[in-house]
Amino acid sequence: MNDSISYQQQLYAGTRAQLIDAIHVKLRDKRFEHVLRVEQTALVLAEQNGVDLEKASIAGLVHDYAKQRSDKDFVAMIEKHQLDPDLLNWGNAIWHGVVGAEFVRDELGINDEDILNAVRHHTTGAVAMSPLEQVVYMADYIEPGRTVPGIEEARRITNEDLQAGVAYQTAHTLAYLIKQQAPVYPGTILTYNRWVAGKKMKYNY
Ligand SMILES: [Fe+2]
Ligand SMILES: [Fe+2]
Repeated sequence: MNDSISYQQQLYAGTRAQLIDAIHVKLRDKRFEHVLRVEQTALVLAEQNGVDLEKASIAGLVHDYAKQRSDKDFVAMIEKHQLDPDLLNWGNAIWHGVVGAEFVRDELGINDEDILNAVRHHTTGAVAMSPLEQVVYMADYIEPGRTVPGIEEARRITNEDLQAGVAYQTAHTLAYLIKQQAPVYPGTILTYNRWVAGKKMKYNY
């Protein structure tokens, strides 16, 4: 499927092969291979859910673009773009998505907000997630290299109902963090309230 995707919407100023090269130089081979699998999984989910295939390809390929940057680089980017100072309390696991999107825009010239939000929210989810964001969030979780317990159920649920997949991943990620007594990024709790508990907020904050 991958070779049949040719970029025609000027979302990225180059070919898919050029984008792949730009990503490969920033990632170790193992992570690069994960990224290719996420792209392929995102394309399948996009096809199933009427999501733009070119956006799914680009977002899948760039979702971990900044994963191997130094903490110093992330802090500089948070300051450069005057992002939420609370981000400084967190680390690579949160930064590579939420802040990583800024690297994607600044260095790869990708300005499409839907793609950038898919990068931003691929680890934490978000209260409001577009179909593309849901596709990338789930593709990262269920790509064929993933072997965590319950992954087959996650794949089955996601293939039947993308939004149910989002709820499944969110619930399991939060349960895992709590079991580890690990800190939970506030955005992850907001994602849980919306997607798992079905809470509708009267006020946005
Ligand atoms: Fe990631
Ligand atoms: Fe990933």
